[in-house]
This record gives sequence, C-alpha cells and structure tokens, in this order.
Amino acid sequence: MSSTTPTLHEIENAFQPAKEISDIERFAGRAKPVTEAFLALLASGANLAIVGNRGIGKTSLARQIQNFGRGDNGLIQKLAIGLDHVHDFNVMYFACGTGVDDRDALLARLLTSDNCLGPWLYDVPKNRRLINALSPKLSAKIFGVGAEVGTSQTIDETRELVVVPQVIEGIFENVVRNLVEQRLTRDGVLIVIDEFDQIKDPAGIGPFLKAMATNTENVKFCIIGVAADIQELMREHESADRLFAGTIIALDPMSGNELSEIIKLAEEKIHNYIKFSDAAQTRLVELAQGHPYLVHLVGKFAFRDAYRNNKHIIESQDIDLVLQSIAENGSDPVLEGRYRKAVASSRQREIVLKALAANQDDRGEIWTTNAYKEALEKGVDNSSQYVGQLVTEEFGAEIERVRERYYRFKDSLFCAYVKARPSMRGLARDS
Ligand SMILES: Nc1ncnc2c1ncn2[C@@H]1O[C@H](COP(=O)(O)OP(=O)(O)OP(=O)(O)O)[C@@H](O)[C@H]1O
Ligand SMILES: [Mg+2]
Repeated sequence: MSSTTPTLHEIENAFQPAKEISDIERFAGRAKPVTEAFLALLASGANLAIVGNRGIGKTSLARQIQNFGRGDNGLIQKLAIGLDHVHDFNVMYFACGTGVDDRDALLARLLTSDNCLGPWLYDVPKNRRLINALSPKLSAKIFGVGAEVGTSQTIDETRELVVVPQVIEGIFENVVRNLVEQRLTRDGVLIVIDEFDQIKDPAGIGPFLKAMATNTENVKFCIIGVAADIQELMREHESADRLFAGTIIALDPMSGNELSEIIKLAEEKIHNYIKFSDAAQTRLVELAQGHPYLVHLVGKFAFRDAYRNNKHIIESQDIDLVLQSIAENGSDPVLEGRYRKAVASSRQREIVLKALAANQDDRGEIWTTNAYKEALEKGVDNSSQYVGQLVTEEFGAEIERVRERYYRFKDSLFCAYVKARPSMRGLARDS
C-alpha cells in the first residue's frame, strides 16, 4: 500500500461517470476501433461514422480521434498498434444535444459554434466577405433573428464575390472551402458531429456530407450517435451504408479485460490507496455487462464509501451496499426513474422485469419460457400479463416483442441496471 493518502478530490474523480474520457492515460482498451478510426482518417474522400448503444463510449472515442487527428499519437503508442503516421487535421467537435431540428439548423450551428467553424467565420477574409454579403433573411436563419452582421461591409468587398449562395448548404461549403484553402493544417478539416441521433429530422444530411467530402478536398466528417447501425442513425433508407462506405465503426460492449483496466486505472489514480478485491472486481465487471459507464458509476461510490470508512479493500459485499445506495439516492436519476416507471409499485411487475433481464441470451433476446419459469419460482404465475404491460408506454415501453415468445430490452444499459439494482423495499403485491 502506498503511503500517500489521496485527497477527497482525487477520490471523487478517480472514476468519471459523468464525463467522457478525453485523457489518453485514462482511456482503456478499444484497440480495434481506435485502429479503424485512425486508418479511416487516412482514406481520402471518406467519412467516418460511429454507432453504438447509450453510454458505451462513443464520445470518449471521439475525443481520442480528436487527439490523434491533431497529431498527438500518445494513445497509439500506449496501445502499441504500430501506426507510423501522424495526422494533421484541424479537428472541430460539435454535440447536437436537443434543439437541432434538421439539416439547415445543423449547418447553421456548425457555422456559428465556438468549437466548430465560429472562430473562422471572420478570421478568414473570404469568409468575412461572404458573411457580410448575406441577405438579411439568410443571416437571420444562420445567426438568429435580430442578429447584426457585417456593418463594416464596403462595396469593394462585396464586388469581389461573384455569387453569394442563397442556401445554407452553399454558404457552409464555401466557408469550409475557404478555410481549407488557408492550409493551416496539412490534412485539412475534420468535423466531428456527436449525438447525431438527437437531430429530429436528419433528411438530406447524409448525402450532403457525402457530397462535401467528395467535392471538397481535405474535408472529413465523423458522425456519431446512438443506433444499432448506420441506417438507423441516418434514418435514410437508400444506401445509407454507401454514404459511409467502409468506415462505420459499431462500438461493441467492452470486454471483461477492458472493464478491468478501467478499474486498474482508477486505482492507480489514487496510488492504490484503495483497491478492489479480486471478487469485488469480478462482481463489478460482471454487473456492468460491457458498459463502461456502470463501472465508473458504481466504482465512484465504492471509492467514496471506502474512503469515508477508512477501508483500503473493497469487498464483493460492499458492491451490494453501494448498489443499494445508488438506487435509493437516485444517483443516476434517469435510470432510476425508468426503473420506477416500469415497476410502478408492483412487486410482481418487478419480479417479471428482473426475470426478463436475467434471462437474455447472447444476442440480447429473451425467451419467455425461461423468464416465466424464473418468475414463477418467485411466486408470479401470470407473467405474460405483466409483460403485456411492460411493452406499453405507460410502463416506459422498455421491452419490445421480437417475435413469437421472444422479447428484448431496447436499451442494454437499462437492462444491466435492472439486473444489478436490488429489489425495491416495501413493495406491495398486487391484489
Ligand atoms: N475507453 C474507455 N475507457 C475508460 N472509460 C470509458 C471509456 N469509454 C467510455 N468510458 C466511460 O464510460 C462512460 C460513457 O462514456 P461516453 O460518454 O464516451 O459514452 P457515450 O457512448 O458517448 O454515451 P452517450 O450515449 O450517453 O452519449 C463515461 O463515464 C466514460 O468516462
Ligand atoms: Mg456521448
């Protein structure tokens, strides 16, 4: 055991459930997707897409793409994947969040956002002239109603422009091209668009990005979102796969070794002052079911409790206590809220929900025969009635029917939470 006692600040930040991993040293595993992404940046005219479940590590991977896209190969060296090339992109990152409705809104936000093209709008002379020459209607669309642009515009400046595009796509394309022409970076511009799934109507975005990357040299896009595949992400039926040919990274759940590495890195962060016993580590890795988020969430509270109680080893039973307090305190209010909505104060419905979560096969499907058997052992003899409720909006519609007698959880993170969460206390049985 080390002699240095960590500070409370170090304890609280050794795990990081609330934030993606930007640091190279704290990024665990993922050698294969990192390699794929690194190579995708080498392919000219190709874009990149990353899809995967909620909380699986998409944004963290995006931050690493940002690191090596800018030429920091620390992660490549750490993973020893022998890629002897140094990228030199001007990398921009934008997370859609809520409030990006469609293609025009997305392009307007990319143009004006500080982490994206915003800083270049007025720094590149050609862009400045372009923006100054916009019609009031168009500038309102980009900068918002009432925004003032280009009071310093002169006749000389506007005359230089042959045509001012009358649609946002045209402006966007020009602004990006003008920036690339500055040759500030050897490889041009890489625009990372995260949380793409939040865009209400993404119609036309895919083809536009594809055309941009093909027509304009040295421009690449990396789009990221919660989805099972590229079709679902783009909600584009025709050949969405071809739009991102070759470089679609489907981020899988993390392996047991990768999750163990997260635990090891956190322990090192506090100089091994507190460690997980082997059994506790196994338990934590198992309950996470491939979701790094759950390792960080449970790990964080386990460290906190151990530190407060002056314990240096976290045992398996401590993990159970932590899970109990995470549930009771609603430490993840969203997951806990969904759990409560599904259970809705019924002991039987909770038993059925947990039986479903415990009986997923390796494809994430649940054969009701198995789940009902388990529920029956716990005293519920009308499981199908509760399953009928759990698929409805009233109970959160967390599960869906795949086919006759097969169901699945829509969100594997929620499924893992249901499995790990201790049963609610004091629930009454339905009459
Ligand atoms: N490679 C990794 N090593 C260590 N921790 C990771 C790794 N990838 C993700 N995490 C952790 O897992 C959690 C979720 O990561 P992240 O935010 O990157 O996922 P996401 O897929 O973008 O999630 P969301 O769907 O909510 O946007 C965070 O706590 C992050 O710190
Ligand atoms: Mg994310």
